[in-house]
Amino acid sequence: MTPTRRAYLALIALLIFASLYLVFYQRVQLDQPQDKPADVKIEETFNWFADNAIRANRPPSPSVTTVEERLRVAEEIIRSILSDSQDFITRDCTDNVSDEYKQSVALRYANLSYAPFPTKKPRRYFFALNLYDNEAVLPDLALQLVRLIAHLGPSNVFVSVFENGSTDRTPQLLQTTFARALKHLGADHSIKTSTAPKPSKVHRIEYLAHARNRALEPLHILAAPPYDLRYDHVLFINDIFVCHNDLLELLYQQRLQRSHITCGLDYDLQWGDVPIFYDTWVARDVKGLPFFKDPGRPLHSAPSMARYQSNLPFQAYCCWNGVAVLDPTPLYDEDVRFRAATPHPHKPPEELSNTDATGGECGASECSLLCKDYWASGHGRVLVVSRVKVAYEAHVYKALHERPGKFGLPADGQFWPRDRKFEEEEGRMIEWDKGPDAQFCIGYHEKTVLAPWEQVMWEDVPVSLEDPLRPAD
Ligand SMILES: *[C@@H]1O[C@H](CO)[C@@H](O)[C@H](O)[C@H]1NC(C)=O
Ligand SMILES: *[C@@H]1O[C@H](CO)[C@@H](O)[C@H](O)[C@H]1NC(C)=O
Ligand SMILES: *[C@@H]1O[C@H](CO)[C@@H](O)[C@H](O)[C@H]1NC(C)=O
Repeated sequence: MTPTRRAYLALIALLIFASLYLVFYQRVQLDQPQDKPADVKIEETFNWFADNAIRANRPPSPSVTTVEERLRVAEEIIRSILSDSQDFITRDCTDNVSDEYKQSVALRYANLSYAPFPTKKPRRYFFALNLYDNEAVLPDLALQLVRLIAHLGPSNVFVSVFENGSTDRTPQLLQTTFARALKHLGADHSIKTSTAPKPSKVHRIEYLAHARNRALEPLHILAAPPYDLRYDHVLFINDIFVCHNDLLELLYQQRLQRSHITCGLDYDLQWGDVPIFYDTWVARDVKGLPFFKDPGRPLHSAPSMARYQSNLPFQAYCCWNGVAVLDPTPLYDEDVRFRAATPHPHKPPEELSNTDATGGECGASECSLLCKDYWASGHGRVLVVSRVKVAYEAHVYKALHERPGKFGLPADGQFWPRDRKFEEEEGRMIEWDKGPDAQFCIGYHEKTVLAPWEQVMWEDVPVSLEDPLRPAD
């Protein structure tokens, strides 16, 4: 090889290296969180490897044209996870329903993908999911999500998943199957998986808040240049069995009622087959009191009870219940984030007793604190949609939806034909109550960790300069 030729090759190698470095560096820039994380200890232990690239307005795969065809391919991809003898547990929720129900659903949810005439502006939906060891729910959840996305219009949707150190096949299923299905459907997405365990010195709630904020990270990246994309709704979904029609109902009610947080109801089973409410730690009725576990009589507020018993949406102070639709305005404009309670300013946690409520904030769940921060920023219209019933386990989901009611038990009303027709009242505006002055908080304590402490206390509902229940614009 001549010296000139060698120099020439070296130059080419240098150019290739430099461009690779630039491309990689750009990507890393994008992957970094925009804000400094609240807790650097956690941040350092996270290790990203994933399809982190965020692509706005990805064109649909050119070989397949209609959304229906793309959905068919996406469903086939997800079905490949199942063995031959398996079927989706949620399949029947739309496949085996009356024609009357199908027609009313088509009409009811037609306006969700576009604003009505004359603007016909597309509406944008951001999906956020935190997953951990969710092999069991993933096939059904993925199936229902692609159906939901197909309905809303894949180009109007962004899906963000943050998975944290699963020991089962969750990361592989997400990275291969789910990502591939979304790609075929034409939906933008960011699927991040982390292998780092929870650091032992970090409070559980602080860790969970961190994980939820990671799932929301692309929302903020997309709001900034060069994307400048703002979303109309954020749909936060836990590891649940749910029918996509029920998620459409949550979005429909959020639009109709102009609510800021809209949830369904989540269940567990007791004594084998009696349904009870699951997440009573977070849910607070309009009086600020926890829901009872007994779904026969869950609420303290009499007007809410009446609506609940008629299976109508009702107002609450706070809810999460496995799935919540959020108005993202406070996330965009008020810097609201998931967080743990602010520690006591003067006393170390080991000196605090159960009843020592002076000075600090009650150590509630990150979802309770999100409600609190929504109220504080003037976004206190919280709605629970009784019709929407979700579960974390297949047998609970089946019991809720497939079983005929048992005689005599107050819980009978929890078992549903899934194509129950819509009452006229389910399409009417509710009357918002002014809400509670205080709410009942149950703190969560971890002895080993320097963070919030256990308390059971009444905590004032923050007063905002704006009326949290102000009439919608
Ligand atoms: C569909 O629903 C009918 C009536 O509710 C039921 O008898 C039938 O078993 C269901 N089909 C499947 C495949 O589950
Ligand atoms: C959809 O929008 C149209 C036009 O504004 C309106 O007339 C119709 O009632 C809406 N449908 C539903 C189900 O809300
Ligand atoms: C991931 O988060 C879940 C809660 O969603 C938690 O129970 C689990 O311990 C976390 N995983 C790791 C590896 O820390």
